[in-house]
Formats: sequence, structure tokens, C-alpha cells
Amino acid sequence: MVRHLLTATALALAGFASGAFAAGDPAKGAALATTCMGCHGIDGYRNAYPSYRVPKLGGQKADYIVIALQGYRAGTRPHPTMRAQAASLSDQDMQDLAAWFASQGEPHTGSAAAAGPGKDKAAVCTACHGEAGISSAPMWPNLAGQHRDYLAQAIERYRDKARQDPVMQGQVAALTDQDITELAAYFSAQPGLFTTHLKN
Ligand code: HEC
Ligand code: HEC
Repeated sequence: MVRHLLTATALALAGFASGAFAAGDPAKGAALATTCMGCHGIDGYRNAYPSYRVPKLGGQKADYIVIALQGYRAGTRPHPTMRAQAASLSDQDMQDLAAWFASQGEPHTGSAAAAGPGKDKAAVCTACHGEAGISSAPMWPNLAGQHRDYLAQAIERYRDKARQDPVMQGQVAALTDQDITELAAYFSAQPGLFTTHLKN
């Protein structure tokens, strides 16, 4: 009974999430995305300080892209540049952008890299982020193939509570620096996300 109720609630939430975010127009998103490509469209482009690579958005979940942009706009994610970028975007703009990124292709597939020590530690993460970092729900980010240094700093920001997300703060509270290094190495080594480029 309890399980049925939980399932129904989860389905209702999932339905709400996809209903809420399904309305993006990729053509409008393409026009907005030109601003973003100066950083997100250059392979391996680095954030100035602290120095880590700008996250890959190709193959990322559209609903998650909207949630992340809303987080920068609301200030629950701390990055100054992304806060400035998101501040002027409406919810519709965010959905249009997410639809454009989603239209650039599915996550890459292929054989996973050799499993390092991060694989065992990742077992607690895979319920949401997927066995090899391709998540099972639209509001949970894919981690597979993301830049290793970006993943590590994102986990650190949840741990020091600069990124305010109750789910992730709980997940990473007890991780050591060594755990974070190994988890980031594991997920970044899986095939998945890619850098998008503007086409002429
Ligand atoms: C000046 C460089 C720059 C520009 C321009 C820029 N971004 Fe970003 N973006 C970043 C950096 C750096 C991060 C990582 C911030 C952090 O650590 O949270 C980021 C993070 C993101 C994330 C979160 C990704 C994730 O995996 O959580 C999304 C989504 C995003 N940007 C979308 C956009 C969109 C859409 C635009 C254009 C409207 C844009 N960005 C413009 C540098 C930039
Ligand atoms: C209960 C589901 C759940 C579990 C388990 C979970 N996560 Fe997450 N994770 C999320 C959600 C939801 C977000 C997006 C939070 C936000 O909006 O910032 C997220 C975000 C992240 C991000 C940021 C991705 C990006 O692109 O910025 C990383 C990295 C991450 N999780 C790593 C982990 C690791 C490592 C573990 C295991 C130690 C883990 N997660 C366990 C749900 C989960």
C-alpha cells in the first residue's frame, strides 16, 4: 500500500515535471544559445577562477538544464557568471534553450573505460544517476562523460553547501576529497555528454 502510494506520487511528480518543461522551442533556443556558445561551445574551455572546465551540455537532460538555470537565477547555485547569464532569461527562454541543447543529439554510447576505484563508491549514486552515469529521470543530470574537474568541483559545492540542493547535500556530506576525486574520475570516463557547437 505504502509502496503503491509512493509510486503514484513519484509518477505524479514525474508527470508534472515533464509537463512543466516540455514546451521548449528549439528554433528560439538556437538564437538564444549563441551567447552561451562563447563558453559552452568551445572544447575544454576553462572557467577563469577557480580553473575548471565549463560543463558539457550536449546530451544533458532538458528538464535538468531548466532546473540548473533556475538555480543560478534564484541564487541557489553560486556561480557569478552563470547567475548573470540566467538573470535575464524567462522560464520560456530556459525551456527553449534546453530544447535546443536536447535537439543536438542523444548522449554518446560506447564501451565504458576501465573501472577504477570510483565504480564501487558510485553504487550509492546510481539509483538516480544511472549505472554508467546516464540518469533514469528527466530532472536528474547525466554525469557520464562530463569533465572530471567540473564534476569534482560541483560535488565540493554541494558538500560545502554553496550549491543548495537538499538531495545532493545529503548524498555527499560524508565524502572525503579522495572519494570525490575517484567518483569524478569514474563518471567522467563513461561515454555520454559532449560539447555542442553552433553550425553555420
Ligand atoms: C562566460 C562563460 C559562460 C557563458 C557565456 C555561459 N555559461 Fe553556462 N556555465 C559556465 C560555467 C563556468 C558553468 C559552471 C558553473 C558552476 O560551477 O556551477 C556553467 C554552467 C551552466 C549550466 C549547468 C550545467 C550543469 O551540468 O549543471 C547550464 C545549464 C548552463 N551553464 C547553461 C548556459 C546557457 C543556457 C548559457 C547562455 C544563455 C550559458 N550557460 C552561458 C560558463 C558560461
Ligand atoms: C536521490 C537521487 C540522487 C542520488 C542518490 C545522487 N544524486 Fe547527484 N544529483 C541529484 C539531483 C536531483 C541533482 C541536481 C541538483 C541540482 O539541482 O543542483 C544532482 C546533481 C549532481 C551533480 C551535479 C551535476 C552537474 O552537472 O552539475 C553531481 C556531480 C552529482 N549529482 C553527483 C552525485 C554523486 C557522486 C552521487 C553519489 C555519491 C550522487 N550524485 C547521488 C540526485 C541524486
